[in-house]
Amino acid sequence: MEDNKNSALKGSGNFTILITGGCGFIGSHVVRHFVKKYPQYRIINVDKLTYAANPEYLKDIETQPNYTFIQADVCDHPAMEDIFRQYGIDAVIHLAAESHVDRSITDPFAFARSNVMGTLTLLQTAKTHWKKEDYPRHLFYQISTDEVYGELHFGEEPFRETTPYDPRSPYSASKASADHFVRAFHHTYGLPVRISNCSNNYGPCQYPEKLIPVIINSIVNRKPLPVYGKGENIRDWLYVEDHARAIDLVFHKGRNGETYNIGGNNEWQNIELVRLLIEITDRLLGRPAGDSLPLITFVTDRPGHDLRYAIDASRIKNELGWQQQMTFRQGLEKTVVWYLKQENKTKTL
Ligand SMILES: NC(=O)c1ccc[n+]([C@@H]2O[C@H](COP(=O)([O-])OP(=O)(O)OC[C@H]3O[C@@H](n4cnc5c(N)ncnc54)[C@H](O)[C@@H]3O)[C@@H](O)[C@H]2O)c1
Repeated sequence: MEDNKNSALKGSGNFTILITGGCGFIGSHVVRHFVKKYPQYRIINVDKLTYAANPEYLKDIETQPNYTFIQADVCDHPAMEDIFRQYGIDAVIHLAAESHVDRSITDPFAFARSNVMGTLTLLQTAKTHWKKEDYPRHLFYQISTDEVYGELHFGEEPFRETTPYDPRSPYSASKASADHFVRAFHHTYGLPVRISNCSNNYGPCQYPEKLIPVIINSIVNRKPLPVYGKGENIRDWLYVEDHARAIDLVFHKGRNGETYNIGGNNEWQNIELVRLLIEITDRLLGRPAGDSLPLITFVTDRPGHDLRYAIDASRIKNELGWQQQMTFRQGLEKTVVWYLKQENKTKTL
């Protein structure tokens, strides 16, 4: 598909993209994707380097001439103003956020601050720096989650772009609030914006507090495998590089003011996913099949734990031609292999 009139690619000579949260899980894959695929763009990665960040993830591209890293907090308005002024930011792909639901339950203020105020700070900075006549060259692209749509029950239709927001955790409330600000800046000031809402990502470089790395690391170390409640909650899983490719498509070919749902059409009950991880990890470790099954330990459920999320990704498929490339088994094997290598590195330090 050709770039449409809203494309951020128009006049892309010396085009500078600010990617926020680029030292986190998804951000590191998005930064690498853009730095490698688009040498004609200058990529500025702004990250505060919270506990979830790891600049080592980007070691392989840190010396690329089109890449710059700046440690800064997206809530720091003067710092964001300086970055826009100094680097002439043309477009923003905004991923920086506090991202762990459990932490949002114990410390919701941190989520309101980074996710809501951080997004508002960037929107306000973009509005100040971008001239209206240059809007066709600019884009503010907000990376959001399917969790803003609320909870589904068995048999209910997956979330569509038109599904009303119904956030139920402090994390999803903060992301929903940020998304509302993004849309408000489009409607009120005409700022060129796009939003995509993606389901659960998995793959290398995820901080080991989320389900998949927790389970892999616990299997390796023969520790209990914590599963919330009865393990019945259902999530849709997408390989992180397929998400990065979807972000590339929405960035280049999406329409301003639009939302795009991204998902893997790949729903798994947590307990089934844990069993699959046991099968793969035990095999890769050379242990007998089912060796780690007795480690499964059901723990008190997360308060307000949404039962099910599922995404209808037909818009991005039909309108932008996106297709995921990774099968779940292949992607999980790659992920397990990556975490096993990390474990070995830690042991040899
Ligand atoms: N992980 C998922 O499954 C998933 C799914 C859909 C959408 N998302 C969204 O994608 C984005 C990235 O998620 P992730 O899983 O990679 O998160 P992550 O926690 O791994 O990384 C977040 C990054 O943002 C940085 N950051 C946090 N607060 C900041 C601040 N105030 N200023 C600057 N940098 C800050 C952190 O240092 C970290 O590097 C988030 O916006 C999240 O809501 C995640």
